Amino acid sequence: MSADFSRDFDLPDAPATARLGAALAPLLAAGDLILLRGDLGVGKTALARALIGAHLAAHGLAEDVPSPTFTLVQTYESPALLIAHVDLYRVENTEELRELGLAEIVDEGVAIVEWPERGGSGLLHLSASRLDIALSLVPEGGRCARLTGSGSWAARLKGLTI
Ligand SMILES: Nc1ncnc2c1ncn2[C@@H]1O[C@H](COP(=O)(O)OP(=O)(O)OP(=O)(O)O)[C@@H](O)[C@H]1O
Ligand SMILES: [Mg+2]
Repeated sequence: MSADFSRDFDLPDAPATARLGAALAPLLAAGDLILLRGDLGVGKTALARALIGAHLAAHGLAEDVPSPTFTLVQTYESPALLIAHVDLYRVENTEELRELGLAEIVDEGVAIVEWPERGGSGLLHLSASRLDIALSLVPEGGRCARLTGSGSWAARLKGLTI
């Protein structure tokens, strides 16, 4: 089994968050599970928006990427990938969680999940190709991102430049 691998990135302003999202976009592959952690308003949606927007733009598609805070899930399709952007903040029970169909999404595409801690530990086992991104505030006003790659994400993360 390959070991997890972590890297920290300083994100001094919102454009830096967008650059990290854009840099991750070409690394996406079907079967990926990307977990976005961090407090309210830290930039999880901003990062997901940049990642999805860059993937779609690379395929000549321009689409709004709204926050899934209220819809719980937004799905996107390019010729290469199905991407589901999920926000578990408002999920109230396991039935609601099951109805989102995360296991099915990861079977055929990529799931990007905000507030994964609300989905329970079962979420961690949905995919062997997992990228955990923990965002935190830094006192100067920017953010820090700690990226931890499991499975094939460890090698992908080693080559990442933003
Ligand atoms: N590196 C950064 N430095 C400073 N501000 C940033 C940075 N990255 C993102 N932001 C700003 O932080 C805010 C983040 O809002 P966003 O909705 O993405 O947070 P969130 O983590 O998804 O919140 P929620 O938990 O409510 O879903 C936006 O206003 C964005 O412009
Ligand atoms: Mg959000």
